[in-house]
Amino acid sequence: MTTTDSRADRIARFPFPFPRDQYRYSTNVEPAGHSTDTVAGSWGDTRIAIDAHYHRERAERERILAEDPSRHQCLPHMVPAAWDAMLTLMRTLADEYPDTMTLARRGVGWYWKNDLLGIEHTFVFGDLDTLPAQPLVYICGQIQEDVVLLDQREGELWGDAGLVTFAADWSFGFDVGMSFLEIHGPVPRIHSENIITRAHNFLMRLEPGQSYRRTNWTLTVDGKLDTSTETYPEWGKDRRTLADGPLDEVGDRLFLRTEVQHLIRLAHSGAVMFLIRTYLLPFRDVASVPEWGERLYRVLEDLPVDMAEYKGISRTREPGMRWLLTHGNVEL
Ligand code: HEM
Repeated sequence: MTTTDSRADRIARFPFPFPRDQYRYSTNVEPAGHSTDTVAGSWGDTRIAIDAHYHRERAERERILAEDPSRHQCLPHMVPAAWDAMLTLMRTLADEYPDTMTLARRGVGWYWKNDLLGIEHTFVFGDLDTLPAQPLVYICGQIQEDVVLLDQREGELWGDAGLVTFAADWSFGFDVGMSFLEIHGPVPRIHSENIITRAHNFLMRLEPGQSYRRTNWTLTVDGKLDTSTETYPEWGKDRRTLADGPLDEVGDRLFLRTEVQHLIRLAHSGAVMFLIRTYLLPFRDVASVPEWGERLYRVLEDLPVDMAEYKGISRTREPGMRWLLTHGNVEL
């Protein structure tokens, strides 16, 4: 775990999402649990990523959830999957962070200890009376990842439970109960290019215990984690104030947002667990790595209009590119 929040650490751990100068949608999945090198450092050695922002992001999640409890959803048939997810996440935390996290059998129950939060608790699996909160609420209060659980039935996957406080321009409260294909309905290109049916087939074949990962990206203004549809009135105008504001401010106000998404088949319930971990890096820090500044410029320059519109970056990409031209080692 990185405990210091230095700028150098943030850059060194950033999952820079572009392997080439052009970005297009694809079924970009790879096995999880290994470290990926970047020109500035590495990321991805653990499935759950705890870093220097742990306490701040946890507090942010708690605040959002208190203001809007609909960020947590669990359809009645998903209760066993929620318990399964909680225990799997605890086991993963204990494996990956043995110095601070402990999970052990205690008689008919389980003992859980999280030293980062001073939590020590004994519970019986499936017995809500032994837990201070519902399983997803309890465990999501101890990680930085958003979680969606997909039920597999009738030859399809359904997003039937989850806790999502840091959505990038979508709403989990709106999507809950939808099929995987319906959830991806608004995304351009991926249907005609068969990307999403291939992803669906791939996910339905995941074996218990198997885990894969992929990345996704967008641009966000002012480093806001919560850009859900629900709070659009709070963050939507930021895009305009950035575009209309001084170019000098762009390097600090515009962020490259990468999501590292894990896909894990839960062994007991058979549900697919989807983890979304969000990383934000201001353009100024991106441009401090010359290869990244140039590559981000090229990707933004090349991105087709329909993809830019869907990502909500039509207004911000041009000022972002202009800023990178002057600060980002870009040769025209
Ligand atoms: C291999 C698996 C997957 C692939 C290839 C995939 C692909 C994509 C792509 C290309 C986008 C558009 C992103 C953008 O332009 O920023 C997207 C959006 C999205 N994906 Fe996935 N995805 C996968 C798994 C999942 C899973 C398991 C969920 C969980 C329910 C999910 C939920 C979403 C949501 C909610 C959006 C935003 C949709 C909206 O705008 O309303 N994805 N996905």
